[in-house]
Amino acid sequence: MIIVIDGPAGSGKSSTAKAVARKMNIEYLDSGALYRAITWLYLEVDQDIDTLFDLLSRVSISFSYTDDVFRVYVNERDVTSKLRTKKVADQVSAIASLPRVRSFVNELMREKVKQGTYIAEGRDLGTAVFTDADLKFFMSANVEERARRRFKELEASGADITFHEVRKNIQDRDRKDTAREADPLKKAPDAIELDTTGMRFDEQVQQICSIIDEQTDLTFK
Ligand code: CDP
Repeated sequence: MIIVIDGPAGSGKSSTAKAVARKMNIEYLDSGALYRAITWLYLEVDQDIDTLFDLLSRVSISFSYTDDVFRVYVNERDVTSKLRTKKVADQVSAIASLPRVRSFVNELMREKVKQGTYIAEGRDLGTAVFTDADLKFFMSANVEERARRRFKELEASGADITFHEVRKNIQDRDRKDTAREADPLKKAPDAIELDTTGMRFDEQVQQICSIIDEQTDLTFK
């Protein structure tokens, strides 16, 4: 079974999906982290796109979710701590717009999801990757609110970044993610929309859990 949550940066997808996974006792998948890992790899090969494409045919990327942390491994190396840097954030939307990169990530996710019950979050999961998902959500919030949330998160993790930089990165990614040709960020017609501006975190989680409880065989604690 697969439940998806799509939406722009800072809309609350990650924290909500993790909390739902915990309450429902299901697996969590962060597709953005996979795009970030490939972007990290691209930076490691000095931004040479041909080398990156060549590597994609032989690299092993795997992931796991334990103790609330979604970890990504590139050839067995844990790269999780590298994924939220400004360098990666600035490049990820460009790398994620490449069809070759998208099919690599999509295949990785589809294989993994065969093995369990997942809640996955991203941009195009309901529209392109898991069009037959058992349940689809689309989370949004206005850009000020989203930038404020992300800034708080980064500040708490000790990142050296200003609110202005965070808002600009979110606006740039919104623009690129929505305008790109390959599977742009878009609400699936059958997705349930949740505008989380001014909504409390526990309300978001509760709403989603209740809908899953009503519409699937899963129940929550
Ligand atoms: O956490 P945040 O919402 O800031 O971003 P993310 O989920 O880590 O995704 C980082 C970037 O990966 C996005 O801005 C998109 O460019 C790309 N992405 C995508 O193209 N398709 C997905 N399914 C997930 C992420």
